[in-house]
Amino acid sequence: MTEPSPKVVTSTLAKKTQLRFLTCGSVDDGKSTLIGRLLYDSQSIMDDQLSQSQIESNRYGTQGKNLDLALLVDGLQAEREQGITIDVAYRFFETSRRKFIAVDTPGHEQYTRNMVTGASNVDLAIIVIDAKRGISKQTKRHTTIIHLLGIKTVILAINKMDLLDYNEEKFLSIQREYESYTKILSELKVITIPISALHGDGVTKLSKKIAWYSGPTILNCLETVNITNVLLKQPPRFPIQWINRPNPNFRGFSGLLQSGSISVGDDVTVFPSLEKTKISEIYEPNGKVQATQAGKSITITLYPEVDISRGDMIAGNINPPHLADKLAAHIVWMDRTDLLPERTYDIRFATSQTRAQIISLEHKIDINTLNKHAAKTLFMNEIGYCKLSLSQSVAFDSYINNKFTGSFVLIDRESKATVGAGMIDFPLRRASNVKWHNMKVNKEIRAQSFKQKPLILWFTGISGAGKSSIADKLEQALVARGNFTYLLDGDNLRHGLNKDLGFTDQDRVENIRRVAEVGNLMVDAGLIVLACFISPFKAERNMARALFNEDEFIEIFIDTSLEICEARDPKGLYKKVRSGELKNFTGIDSPYEKPNKPEIHIKTRTKNINQSVTQILSYLEYKI
Ligand code: ADX
Repeated sequence: MTEPSPKVVTSTLAKKTQLRFLTCGSVDDGKSTLIGRLLYDSQSIMDDQLSQSQIESNRYGTQGKNLDLALLVDGLQAEREQGITIDVAYRFFETSRRKFIAVDTPGHEQYTRNMVTGASNVDLAIIVIDAKRGISKQTKRHTTIIHLLGIKTVILAINKMDLLDYNEEKFLSIQREYESYTKILSELKVITIPISALHGDGVTKLSKKIAWYSGPTILNCLETVNITNVLLKQPPRFPIQWINRPNPNFRGFSGLLQSGSISVGDDVTVFPSLEKTKISEIYEPNGKVQATQAGKSITITLYPEVDISRGDMIAGNINPPHLADKLAAHIVWMDRTDLLPERTYDIRFATSQTRAQIISLEHKIDINTLNKHAAKTLFMNEIGYCKLSLSQSVAFDSYINNKFTGSFVLIDRESKATVGAGMIDFPLRRASNVKWHNMKVNKEIRAQSFKQKPLILWFTGISGAGKSSIADKLEQALVARGNFTYLLDGDNLRHGLNKDLGFTDQDRVENIRRVAEVGNLMVDAGLIVLACFISPFKAERNMARALFNEDEFIEIFIDTSLEICEARDPKGLYKKVRSGELKNFTGIDSPYEKPNKPEIHIKTRTKNINQSVTQILSYLEYKI
């Protein structure tokens, strides 16, 4: 490799534009080497950084005594040792024409999440592929996500041309294949460039070896592509991160102005309250200003003062955001556990957070063909189009209008992991036309006439644990003491209301959702409800719990070991499972998540049915 003399670049031009670009590709395609090459050839590597890289290059590198450019880029010790990139890394460099931020995202299949995270707010993406391997599933997945994220320009860097003797025909055939793949992705501009990141051809300079290629180098593209600073042109959006009250006389609202510009005196609306007010003062970190624009961290005061909480959004009165509790969005699923429509997830927008259910999964995208397919779930890395219902109205924009206020993440309520990223298409308004009626005869009045405290006893445990038998005996005891009851039983409900449901994870989630709703109506009717369902997932039991008041939901864990249930096998089901006749059976090839803190824990190893009933009755004493 010819080594230019590295030197520190100091910025002399004050007004250079800045381009943020994303780099993606598979593990071995040479993405890190390409960024290393860009950094190195643009001479922005500092001396000390270089010598450190040389030491590490000798230790971990794949290039013998030569400098391994990938090591300039791969920042983390662990990824060096594993040879894969495992986190989003930001690299800064500049040439005489522009400043650059390279957002390096991992290429390993399971790290799609980081790509989605890294891709917001970039102007261009470089997809690196290995010329020998051609276009892979991962190339297609990245292309689809790039398009979904609204990135308009892709450089397809066909790397390792040196290993193919810089063969033009091979280059053209990959170019054709990619063009035919991307032709239905509207507004996506693709520039295909033959390169050898290792030797430098096509990266910052053309070479004789690719004399047949007359297009730009990668650096040419990066220096000349149009930067559309759309955020400045969009209407103002100011999500409130915190209320700034240093003394009783000052009440400011702080956060990052996500888009648009604002001036003192502007008319604004606060979401979701829809209160109207005016901007009175604007403070930037260095003091008071008359006007400011997107990207600035600011504090503003308002006149007249209105009620505002953290997570609210202030917006201009022209082109306001949507305010809705239902929406349609593309979702990129990022978790090992499949998406379960009807499960309740936490949903986090720019600064606000609430709960959401995917009420319908309209289709998923086959990334090989870009066709839409019917789907019941999304697996890790899959992209689907969904309708979501939120537990309260939230202010948001369509993603094409605003990437910040038009996106969200879904969070699993149990594991707290980020499981999905969403790009909003549009709001759905139907729900707001349906209003809740409060009737004169209500739960309290019905409870009084029954002379009891309505509540739900939620029995959970694996099949054959004894849920129904204990609940049956308990119900007899309750009726004998004058209570009004109803027993909802898994097997029984699956004869009618739930006869369309089987035992996949999705169907079990829906089963419990319906049961919880029915149980809620029955408690509202004034009854003491006994619900006996395996209800294997914590998330759904907690969803059911959340429908009730705190003292109305009593979780009863019927704790019987799998061995005992199998030995009992009251319905002959375990036998069928072992002979392969029955699939998705709880405790065998379908999970059961034990409750952490049930109100009542019945260990049937030490208690028979009557003793179990006594344990529950003594818990209920004075409560009903
Ligand atoms: S849940 O998982 O969705 O809560 P539910 O309690 O309604 O299940 O139904 C469980 C009952 O269905 C079991 O008691 C058993 O009799 C029967 N059953 C049939 N197939 C299965 C299966 N694959 N897994 C668990 N239970 C099954």
